[in-house]
Amino acid sequence: MRTKIVAGNWKMNQSLDEGLKLASEVINIAEAELPDDVKLILAPPYIHLASIIHLLNPNINVAVAAQNCNEHERGAYTGEISSSMLASMKVSHVILGHSERRAYYNESNELLTEKLNAAFSAGLTPIFCCGEPLEIREAGTHFNYVKNQLTESLSGISSDNYKNLIVAYEPIWAIGTGKTASSEQAQEMHATIRKHLTSLFGEAAENTSILYGGSCKPGNAKELFAGDDVDGGLIGGASLNARDFVDIALSF
Ligand code: 13P
Repeated sequence: MRTKIVAGNWKMNQSLDEGLKLASEVINIAEAELPDDVKLILAPPYIHLASIIHLLNPNINVAVAAQNCNEHERGAYTGEISSSMLASMKVSHVILGHSERRAYYNESNELLTEKLNAAFSAGLTPIFCCGEPLEIREAGTHFNYVKNQLTESLSGISSDNYKNLIVAYEPIWAIGTGKTASSEQAQEMHATIRKHLTSLFGEAAENTSILYGGSCKPGNAKELFAGDDVDGGLIGGASLNARDFVDIALSF
């Protein structure tokens, strides 16, 4: 049985006051309306994590993620945050390999293996992002491109750790563009990803939640989530509005 997950990647948005207000609103609406079998994850900027964790309630299925972590455990890495620091503040999840980090901070598939293993060692659950740029989609090589991302980053993780992995497919051409993958495009890529994960990790892949990301909104979430292999969403822009974010989670 796969967990249904809707995660909100706030990216570099929200002052502390705005972030606290948004998180409180999400938690309040979730308390009243969220079905037991759906999990919400909020991924605010690092500096808001500690304050937002204090708002969490063990009876409400809302968790907190960081948007990144460093691959090292400690040391002279000015400005960086380690996975064990995140775990020490009760952060439970971490987004790794987002296309913005791959593009603007040169994160390679190999570096992401190190980050994944650092996250697992600290007991965090990574949300590992993959997805192709527009030119790859137009060239028709998107399935191989995404499979290669998975092979290169995930071959170096153990089967035991794999059981704690969440995967997010985010076609880069759909991120923040208002262009969404069609439900057929999302499902066929998710099915391809699951098949590939099965070739790497066997039957455990049946239990891996694979989230769709890219201009997912209350108006299109139901159609996207209808795919057999689409287990939820990783939401950018629409996660900055509490009502919209929870409405997406009510779309299963
Ligand atoms: P949008 O929902 O704004 O397209 O962003 C998707 C995303 O990048 C989530 O990580």
